[in-house]
Amino acid sequence: MPAQDSTTRPIQFEKTRRPLPEASHAPGFIYHSEEVLAEEKRKIFLKEWLCVARSEEVGEPGSYMTLGILGEPIVITRDAQGRINCFANMCLHRGVEVAYGCGHAEEFSCPYHAWRYDLSGRLVSASYMRESCGFDPKAVRLKPIAVGEWTGWVFINLADDPKPLQDHLEFFSRDLGFLKMEDCRIGSKLVIDLKANWKFVVENLMDIYHARTLHINTFGKFRSSPEKHPTEPRPNGGTFMIYEAAPMTPDGKTLFGRMPAIADRGDSFACSSHLFPNMQVIARSDNIHPLVMWPVTANTSRTIVYNLFPKEFLEQPGAHERVKVYDDYIHVVLEEDRLMMDSLQRAVQSKNYEPGRMSTLEVGIYTVVNDYLDRMFGSR
Ligand code: FES
Ligand SMILES: [Fe+2]
Repeated sequence: MPAQDSTTRPIQFEKTRRPLPEASHAPGFIYHSEEVLAEEKRKIFLKEWLCVARSEEVGEPGSYMTLGILGEPIVITRDAQGRINCFANMCLHRGVEVAYGCGHAEEFSCPYHAWRYDLSGRLVSASYMRESCGFDPKAVRLKPIAVGEWTGWVFINLADDPKPLQDHLEFFSRDLGFLKMEDCRIGSKLVIDLKANWKFVVENLMDIYHARTLHINTFGKFRSSPEKHPTEPRPNGGTFMIYEAAPMTPDGKTLFGRMPAIADRGDSFACSSHLFPNMQVIARSDNIHPLVMWPVTANTSRTIVYNLFPKEFLEQPGAHERVKVYDDYIHVVLEEDRLMMDSLQRAVQSKNYEPGRMSTLEVGIYTVVNDYLDRMFGSR
């Protein structure tokens, strides 16, 4: 793809690269090209730290979960010593997946020829291999993948030589530490499939411009006007913003009260922060609903919404029913967004599509898109 090659001057990005008051949105092809997605896999998803789970999802010794990232099969386990492990979910004999779904296991037995692995990925036994010259089972281990935990989140990195996780989380840790996400637990987890490129979903979540138009009948009517609390850019394409908004319930009233970690802030406290490449943490006074956006194809994506509450909230009688009120409301809001995502995707695939000018309210999108262009196509 010559015009998009990082060695060629990317002329088509010039209007997006201009200072924000002069800038336009990014060219449409980055939102629907399978070639761009293949490059994103190589330059972003196989290179960067990625948030893949809450620690509690693999909390007990023996628990495991499997996932796939752009075709890469992965398994995460908590071994008997309580250590978290991550490795390629790929048998060392022929490559079949050794673990499926999620749950508890003492070991994994490959369904094809029964090579067995422990929860740290070591080969335990392989039948009929004694006469295979030089084959040493003890030297065989499923390919390890870097894994780390932070405030109850599990991050992995598929690179061979990843930079430290702490470096990746530097500003995020500083800006969001006060939320004490480590004291929260999953009230619910929603999986939303969208017919839109993953970057449209990332951009939509930091698009404060639309909150009081598209969402004026839902949370938009309880949110401060966007120019009052502008988005602040952070290093490496991150963003942070503190603003005012009501809890995410139909009448804007909390069903639990304020989270203990931020009890000194008002009921209308809200903040939002983006961590490159695909995580957005949105907090209200009573709950945190982080989202992680994954590409599926160039034109489709999957968003995971974690609805987190302090664990003492979830132990209260009737907590389950109350969490459902928050869940249902998030669904209503995301359905409003879904129609826009579908329409954006159709637009960029049209021969008539021309990226329009940005509003200065779109500083979040401007920050994230320009960081993305730097990484994918070379710096300005
Ligand atoms: S592919 Fe796993 S044992 Fe053969
Ligand atoms: Fe929205």
